[in-house]
Amino acid sequence: MTWSDEELVTRSIGGDADSFNQLVLRWERPIYALAYRVIGREEDARDVCQETFLRAFRALNGFRGQAKFSSWLYRIALNLCRDWVRRERRTPIVQASEEIDLMEMVAVREPSASIEDLVARKELTRIVERAMARLPEEQRTAIILKEYHELTFQEIADLVGDPIGEVARPRPADDGERGAFFLGPGRIGELDNDLTRQHAGEPQGQRIIVTGRLLDGDGRPVRNSLVEIWQANTGGRYRHALDRWPSPLDPNFDGVGRTLTDHDGRYEFTTIKPGAYPWKNHDNAWRPAHIHFSVFGSAFTQRLVTQMYFPDDPLFSQDPIFNSIPDEKARQRMVSRFDLSRTVEQWALGFEFDIVLRGRDASVFDDEEEDDE
Ligand SMILES: [Fe+2]
Repeated sequence: MTWSDEELVTRSIGGDADSFNQLVLRWERPIYALAYRVIGREEDARDVCQETFLRAFRALNGFRGQAKFSSWLYRIALNLCRDWVRRERRTPIVQASEEIDLMEMVAVREPSASIEDLVARKELTRIVERAMARLPEEQRTAIILKEYHELTFQEIADLVGDPIGEVARPRPADDGERGAFFLGPGRIGELDNDLTRQHAGEPQGQRIIVTGRLLDGDGRPVRNSLVEIWQANTGGRYRHALDRWPSPLDPNFDGVGRTLTDHDGRYEFTTIKPGAYPWKNHDNAWRPAHIHFSVFGSAFTQRLVTQMYFPDDPLFSQDPIFNSIPDEKARQRMVSRFDLSRTVEQWALGFEFDIVLRGRDASVFDDEEEDDE
């Protein structure tokens, strides 16, 4: 049977860990979508999403059913988004909310349209964008909630009108606490691991198959575990609002995929080889082609992020992220291996890339601050 959110909360407070997992599965996508639309950066939106569930879990005993569980969850997420906006405004690296390109994100979700439609939409987009940018943050948030999340005005008023709630603050005593929220296969779509088949047409670029195993420190396979990737298109352009370098977007490529590891801990993605892209880290700086990987391991809170490079890239020598790893062997573990046996004749090149969660041969995982895209 299907439990209501509120019933799952009650069961969860009663000690049933799986009930909270079900709430995570039910609300993870909407919360991530909200965070992404406010923030416009995938990694930060993921962090906000994860933090939202952590805080909800910690504060669950304080949820008295005075609001809908979803409203309560949205409020936590919004408070975290606001914290993010405040924090980013203090640092000059990213111009926060005015840079968020809501309409571009809406546009990319729609099926392909004629040139005339696109031109007309672009003009409209500019007008709406300008108008949105002039709105105070509260109103902009209200529009996002209404348009994308179909909340009622009363729910929006409750959310937006409320200052940072007591509920969204972690209690210091809880800081070391970590719940284990297992993600199930229910959230994976059939085409989620084939980034070349997510649109009506095929994306531009060199088709590749990226496969490998997720392993524990002792070489044992990590089974049934969520592996997510995100990457630039063949021109080195990311499909997110803050990537503004003048390389074209590909209407047939989102650059985002997910899958679960099988019995041997193996994952497989079909995608296209990403291009190098410029970033302003240093003079004439270009990042080598790479694919970002996120692995959850067995617990929801154990999210590890790493990057996969391609063999023999001429840009390794000047990449600060690659060269920040002092150990040559560890550095090489970030580089995938061309594999003729995985290469499919007349179709796609094969690359092998294992991810080791811990131990002597552990993969190199990103620091939280060291974040290029
Ligand atoms: Fe990147």
